[in-house]
Amino acid sequence: MTKTLPALLLTGATGYIGRRLAAGLEGSWTVFRASRTAAGERALDLNLAEPESIRRAFDAAAPAVVVHAGAEADPDACERDPERARRVNVDAVKTLGRLCGASRTRLIHFSTDLVFDGERGWYSEEDAPNPRGVYARGKLESEEAALAGAPGAVVLRVSTAYGRSLGGRPSFVDGLRGKLAAGEAVTAFTDQWRTSTAADQLPEVLARLLADPDLEGVFHWGGAERATRFATAEIFARVMGFDERLVRPGRAADVRFASPRPRDSSLDSSRLAAAIGVAPLGYEAGFKALLEPAPDRLGQR
Ligand SMILES: NC(=O)c1ccc[n+]([C@@H]2O[C@H](COP(=O)([O-])OP(=O)(O)OC[C@H]3O[C@@H](n4cnc5c(N)ncnc54)[C@H](OP(=O)(O)O)[C@@H]3O)[C@@H](O)[C@H]2O)c1
Repeated sequence: MTKTLPALLLTGATGYIGRRLAAGLEGSWTVFRASRTAAGERALDLNLAEPESIRRAFDAAAPAVVVHAGAEADPDACERDPERARRVNVDAVKTLGRLCGASRTRLIHFSTDLVFDGERGWYSEEDAPNPRGVYARGKLESEEAALAGAPGAVVLRVSTAYGRSLGGRPSFVDGLRGKLAAGEAVTAFTDQWRTSTAADQLPEVLARLLADPDLEGVFHWGGAERATRFATAEIFARVMGFDERLVRPGRAADVRFASPRPRDSSLDSSRLAAAIGVAPLGYEAGFKALLEPAPDRLGQR
């Protein structure tokens, strides 16, 4: 007799992070993949801008746990359309939080290093956020909504993510690889520090979080090291065997973004690392891992 696995509602299942989670959590959970364009088995149509759509997806999945990786994750798009950003990034989490709270369903909600202003860096969970811009303010508000609505909820703040290409949206490593492989120069900021998240580790991190219901509240999961975008690009070029001299220095301070970008939003992830017994990867190890065969179930989807 085959065992029925508990239901997990994954929003943002077609996104950069959601694709990895959908593949990685399958086998331990019956994963319902929800978004506007999710297709195939156990795909649910979900528009986060519409509370009724969220309710329908929730009822259809009848989940034991919700992993909320759906969002308008482009800060500049949020700045251009704050009203839509609020509906998708804030109001949707209020609805999900209420649904989870009322049914005692655990909620794992993805947030961002950008809730910090970036004036200091190496932020722990104890540090006070000071979000700048529509996206960052909305994400902080969504954290509060998740924690208030769904007792026992987890807010997982991640940094700029990179990983294997699984189709869908590219990440910064895809941009670097494309240009460096073609022998083209890339410009990378010397005045912006990040602890980039090795996204292919996230299924393991989520599996451990899901296995321990006592873990609740805010957690950080970035990479093991803090580096400038410039140093990051140099390490990537070296590990991948591209010409490091193609990486040229530039300054974020000289570029006008629609949404503010913190100078140093690096995250200290030691609290979650200790709690789940997983060490976050540094840049060199994270990039080397991209050269290795994909872990089980992290295939193309
Ligand atoms: N990737 C990063 O570097 C990074 C860094 C920090 C924090 N985060 C956070 O991590 C989470 C996942 O980010 P990501 O990078 O995976 O995002 P992403 O690649 O941009 O994907 C966004 C996902 O949300 C879905 N979505 C967007 N608008 C929607 C709507 N109105 N209704 C329903 N679904 C909608 C998209 O699906 P459809 O288009 O199919 O609807 C897609 O699956 C987000 O909360 C983000 O804020 C990501």
